[in-house]
Amino acid sequence: MTEDTFKLNTSKLVEKNNFEENPEDTGECWFSDSDAEEKMISFLFDNLGQLTINENSTMCDVGTGNGHLLFQLREEGFKGKFLGIDYSENSVEFAQNIAETNDIDDIEFEVVDIYDDNWKPTRQFDVLLDKGTLDAIALSGLKFNGKTAVELYAESVQKLLPSGSVFLITSCNFTEVELTKIIEGDFFKVWKKIDYPSFEFGGVKGQTICSIAFERK
Ligand SMILES: C[S@@+](CC[C@H](N)C(=O)[O-])C[C@H]1O[C@@H](n2cnc3c(N)ncnc32)[C@H](O)[C@@H]1O
Repeated sequence: MTEDTFKLNTSKLVEKNNFEENPEDTGECWFSDSDAEEKMISFLFDNLGQLTINENSTMCDVGTGNGHLLFQLREEGFKGKFLGIDYSENSVEFAQNIAETNDIDDIEFEVVDIYDDNWKPTRQFDVLLDKGTLDAIALSGLKFNGKTAVELYAESVQKLLPSGSVFLITSCNFTEVELTKIIEGDFFKVWKKIDYPSFEFGGVKGQTICSIAFERK
């Protein structure tokens, strides 16, 4: 395990301890500065009725961490079955504790390593979500059989989606162009993008974060 991955997992432990001491403290929410979570949720509302997005859509959050995105989606009115997956047992236990403490019994969390060869999802979803997970995977620098985990990412997560469904991903590590290059291919094509404020420097336009919705081919 690289130092970056180790740091992420350690911070989950700290979160869990904090939650045990204060149930109001549900830990960090990645990219909260840029309203990424709100923007992802608004995107789903704005696109109700399109592709597989509706208020009863089943959703899976890959690398769910503390499950915040799913809890928020439920709170905002999405009613379908939700599953949060994460390879960190601490994260899953933490998310399950939050669900239990708040009497939420209809969001499931499961320990899954999306690169585990033995992992075969038992169901598929209308919507797949990723907020910061591909970024963390990129930081880990992991390789499998000579291919980087980033190169293998789309092939791995496509198993969770049937044709015509939606994969909404947010990254602060890759530009829109880079993210498109990573995800588009045999399994996905770009469907829509979320707009974020951009800055301009020396005639070059930049953005600190991007979210792209892909359609599963
Ligand atoms: C940057 S955090 C984002 C957490 C959450 N999505 C959020 O927005 O707060 C990345 C998450 O991806 C998880 N993760 C990293 N590699 C994974 C893998 N191979 N399989 C499943 N989860 C993974 C980590 O445990 C961590 O919870």
